[in-house]
Amino acid sequence: MEIRDATEIDLAEILAIYNEVIANSTAVYAEQPATLEDRRAWLAARRQSGLPVIVAADDRGVLGFASFGDWRGAWAGYRHTIEHTVHVRADARGGGVGTALMAALFERGEAIGKHVMIGAIDAANASSLRFHRRLGFAEVAHFREVGRKFNRWLDLVFRPALSRPPRRGAALRPTAFARIAPALDALFHGPRSGAERSKTTGSPGCLHSPFG
Ligand SMILES: CC(C)(COP(=O)(O)OP(=O)(O)OC[C@H]1O[C@@H](n2cnc3c(N)ncnc32)[C@H](O)[C@@H]1OP(=O)(O)O)[C@@H](O)C(=O)NCCC(=O)NCCS
Repeated sequence: MEIRDATEIDLAEILAIYNEVIANSTAVYAEQPATLEDRRAWLAARRQSGLPVIVAADDRGVLGFASFGDWRGAWAGYRHTIEHTVHVRADARGGGVGTALMAALFERGEAIGKHVMIGAIDAANASSLRFHRRLGFAEVAHFREVGRKFNRWLDLVFRPALSRPPRRGAALRPTAFARIAPALDALFHGPRSGAERSKTTGSPGCLHSPFG
């Protein structure tokens, strides 16, 4: 499997993944399917802003895609903060595609000076919550009934991850990155035993993420 920048040729497969998520879940708060035109404009806008759109692909085609955009973009003070999106094709979920996309996204974020990455996740999306917890994202902010889809109210939660440990002298708390990602760690440094993992998980010394 390779992780690479998306091209126009990938857009039809990206669209199919996205529209399956829209049709069958509350992971995206849209009720109508997106169009190819819409995805083309999205890719062009991200490129123009210097923001990545990446895909995971192998001989089965595009297995998933990920990107990030501004968070509350109108305000310059938020320029080091991004909101990410990640979606994996239904038949490829649970096989490490999402984790590999997130690892690449962290690297891209770090390369352009981003400091905090935030996931905005439907509170009922148990698999995505588990996925982000496993990657070390913190659990904050639960907004009740801010969305509506399938004739019901939807709760949204925020899941931030910091790019750097707290400054020296700052109160040492287990921030998202201090609890960083056994999954990313294993991806970059090879698998380790459960005992070794539990020794480092929760320790501020475990900052192996490319974003840290
Ligand atoms: C959430 C999502 C991006 C995760 O990507 P993925 O490739 O399935 O995840 P990975 O295989 O890299 O990681 C697996 C972990 O994610 C979670 N997970 C999410 N969906 C899963 C699934 N269908 N099967 C197994 N594990 C799943 C689990 O925590 C799992 O870790 P565990 O096995 O240690 O419990 C993907 O399942 C997806 O696209 N889901 C539908 C759309 C969506 O919810 N997007 C995110 C919106 S915020």
